[in-house]
Amino acid sequence: MSLDSESERFREDVLAGLSAEPRSIPCKYLYDASGSALFEQICETPEYYVTRADLALHEAHLDEIASMIGPDAHVIELGSGAGIKTRRLLASLESPRTYTPIEISDAALAQSTRDLESAFPDIEIRPVQADYTQPIADSELLLDPAARRRIVYFPGSTISNFERHQAIDFLARLSGIAGTGGALLIGVDLVKPAERLIAAYDDAGGITAAFNRNLLERVRRELDAQVDLGAFAHEARYNESRERIEMHLVAQHPTRIVIDDHVFEFEQGESIHTENSHKYSVDSFRKLAAEAGLTSEKVWFDPDGLFSMHWLTAEGGGFEV
Ligand code: TRP
Repeated sequence: MSLDSESERFREDVLAGLSAEPRSIPCKYLYDASGSALFEQICETPEYYVTRADLALHEAHLDEIASMIGPDAHVIELGSGAGIKTRRLLASLESPRTYTPIEISDAALAQSTRDLESAFPDIEIRPVQADYTQPIADSELLLDPAARRRIVYFPGSTISNFERHQAIDFLARLSGIAGTGGALLIGVDLVKPAERLIAAYDDAGGITAAFNRNLLERVRRELDAQVDLGAFAHEARYNESRERIEMHLVAQHPTRIVIDDHVFEFEQGESIHTENSHKYSVDSFRKLAAEAGLTSEKVWFDPDGLFSMHWLTAEGGGFEV
């Protein structure tokens, strides 16, 4: 997409989201350059356990995971993946053939491709620049027919950020990409007491708050909107019945956001919902996967039991993408 149509899309999505009841803005807009930098800082906060737990899970179980994957695999990762988990996974596999990172950001994709090409000269790196939440054409997604099996790798619990029905559709699509004999490796954060979850999404140092509020800064700057940034506060809520953390920007007093001739009035306490992070038990994720026609054949945990990774395969063979 060109820059212009991207910013037009942003404008339309923000106008639609602020007109809706309750108000929301799609979470993908949290990740501009400063949002992505803040997100990396979130991963270092003492409260946000997810990144460390995911890494600890890999450290504890990589040998077993690698032996389940077996030789001559084609690994397809959603996200840019030059990070430590990807490197360790590729390094632990027996004669992996091909690695396809699917990533929306050109810059991140180019960087990770360069890094991995030099670290793994024997693996063919086939980058795909795409928004993986949208269908990807077969012609763009060159799959290695000579590989023994395809593994779709999606760590980090990004699946949590989908609504349940979207997660089901998404898993079914991934199953199509993995194809016959393939498998999905999906990182999933586990349900735990609300206080622990809320702290993880509202760290004492205020980094998650800055990450969330950056969205309004972006609205102000990119859409030339009138927004009183000081009027909105970050809030992480645990929605018990839906087993999810919700991030909101809550008006601290009556205020308004003006975008061209659109005026959005906020009462005190009114919020803009900016993201969800769904939490699953082993069972609730198994049920979700089953709705996508997938069977969870194996689950691994980090040593503290905070985080999980499922090995999913399609019942009765392959799907079409
Ligand atoms: N998917 C991860 C999670 O839900 C990472 C993440 C996405 C996140 N958005 C976030 C972490 C906002 C903290 C705040 O935990």
